[in-house]
Amino acid sequence: MNSVVSAIRTALLTAEPRAKCFAARQVARDWRKGALAWRFDVAMPNQPAWPDAPELLAPGHMPKRRKGSSESGRLALWHALAHIEFVAIDLALDMAGRFGAAMGEEFVGDFLGVAADEAMHFALLARKLESLGSHYGALPAHGGLWEAAHDTKGDVAARLAVVPMVLEARGLDVTPATIERVQASGDSGGAKILIRILDDEIRHVGVGTKHFLRCAEMARSNPESLWQSLVKQHFHGTIKPPFNDSARLAAGLSRGFYAEIAH
Ligand SMILES: [Fe+2]
Ligand SMILES: [Fe+2]
Repeated sequence: MNSVVSAIRTALLTAEPRAKCFAARQVARDWRKGALAWRFDVAMPNQPAWPDAPELLAPGHMPKRRKGSSESGRLALWHALAHIEFVAIDLALDMAGRFGAAMGEEFVGDFLGVAADEAMHFALLARKLESLGSHYGALPAHGGLWEAAHDTKGDVAARLAVVPMVLEARGLDVTPATIERVQASGDSGGAKILIRILDDEIRHVGVGTKHFLRCAEMARSNPESLWQSLVKQHFHGTIKPPFNDSARLAAGLSRGFYAEIAH
């Protein structure tokens, strides 16, 4: 039987977006069916395989996204979101494959489920771009989204603190305003996609928080202060309001975690 990590590794090393989505969903399905062996016989790649397009630009070199309802602003929004979801597939796969041996079967199942969700999110957004006459890869994209993974590859608590509990939680804060804007522009199909994504992302933050709490317990640390110190050490952006407190709380992320270090 193929090992769970070799299946994960294969998905990470698949560059073509549709094929990566297919591979990610296949790993999650095979895992649920018990068709993958609990064996950790290969290492995760440092960098997953990605397609030649989109061109990746350093943060700060991205063309300014205008908030207006212009055609190009709309395309830029959907393209940026598609890229975030594309990278999120690999972030979830890497989480499961890199830290699964230490964290156990529930952890692997949870994050393979997240990877399958991210593949679905990407597919919805790729299709949205196509309905607008464009495609994923047509515009440049943010090249810094793998940095968090790289910075935290040696420490599962740091990875959980930064990826689900900072970056995905940030999505909970900003998505409602995007939904409103998209809805106001008359694009109810687009708003529907974002509502579905927001729902799933609350669950993703919840999965991250649940496993982070286990890490804190194993380390006999106070979860809030452990999280704050890991975020200070490994996250180079700012934790800034406005927060979607109710969505965060639904994911188990209470203000006790982030209120103190927000600015
Ligand atoms: Fe997502
Ligand atoms: Fe997510």
